[in-house]
Amino acid sequence: MSQPVALVTGGNRGIGLAIAQELKDQGFLVVITHRSGSAPVGFESISMDVTSTKSVDDGFTSIEEKFGFPEVVVANAGITRDGLVMRMSDEDFVDVIDTNLTGAFRVARRATRGLLKLKKGRLIFVGSVVGSVGAAGQVNYSASKSGLVGMARSFAKELGSRGITANVVAPGFVKTDMTAELDTKRRDEIEAAVPLARFCSPQEVAGVVAFIASEKAGYITGAVIPVDGGLGMGH
Ligand SMILES: NC(=O)c1ccc[n+]([C@@H]2O[C@H](COP(=O)([O-])OP(=O)(O)OC[C@H]3O[C@@H](n4cnc5c(N)ncnc54)[C@H](OP(=O)(O)O)[C@@H]3O)[C@@H](O)[C@H]2O)c1
Repeated sequence: MSQPVALVTGGNRGIGLAIAQELKDQGFLVVITHRSGSAPVGFESISMDVTSTKSVDDGFTSIEEKFGFPEVVVANAGITRDGLVMRMSDEDFVDVIDTNLTGAFRVARRATRGLLKLKKGRLIFVGSVVGSVGAAGQVNYSASKSGLVGMARSFAKELGSRGITANVVAPGFVKTDMTAELDTKRRDEIEAAVPLARFCSPQEVAGVVAFIASEKAGYITGAVIPVDGGLGMGH
């Protein structure tokens, strides 16, 4: 049997790279996307910008030609443009939605073509605890992440009868470049609010994504799976 293909957007660093490594360890042929610069050693990679429909389409076409249809697709690429609402520009709002929500839609829509042919598959969206609980300074980001929940559940309903699942994995605060700029005071506040009293590692998110990607998770769809140290408990 040929090796199943998994695609991870934004897999060149941070949570995406940890997910790529974990899926590789689970036996997938992993293709990661990168926007510029070089891709990490040891992975198949293609250039893709999720804000461009053409770039997403070209990327999938190239993967399909070289490796076959991806049966696990992890929409992980994301950005922040934090700022208090009174100072948040249209551009800051729209850019975050375009990458985090519309970008995930572009990827999942294009992936569906192959998944329908395979008659199975996993769409996995990397959301955030902030999509449920909100965050001051992140009106744009939290809107994009809660948008993923409705979107994943709609994919789940539309494609479930074809053996395709769609789920959101919702991390709390994870040690990556995205959170590296938080000052010590904010860091301390976050750790004080998290029942497990620490940040998450990218590998802890990756382990959950790999489980959802596995055969064992075949009856889980439309779910939001928290990996947040208890921060969003009850939401
Ligand atoms: N870190 C956290 O605490 C945390 C918590 C909850 C959820 N998340 C979510 O987890 C995901 C990964 O976050 P991270 O912390 O690993 O972030 P990161 O270290 O900043 O990495 C972000 C990744 O997304 C890629 N990306 C951004 N815009 C893109 C675009 N238009 N097209 C293609 N790729 C693009 C980046 O590519 P380049 O290298 O080319 O920039 C990079 O690979 C994001 O969706 C984020 O919202 C993170």
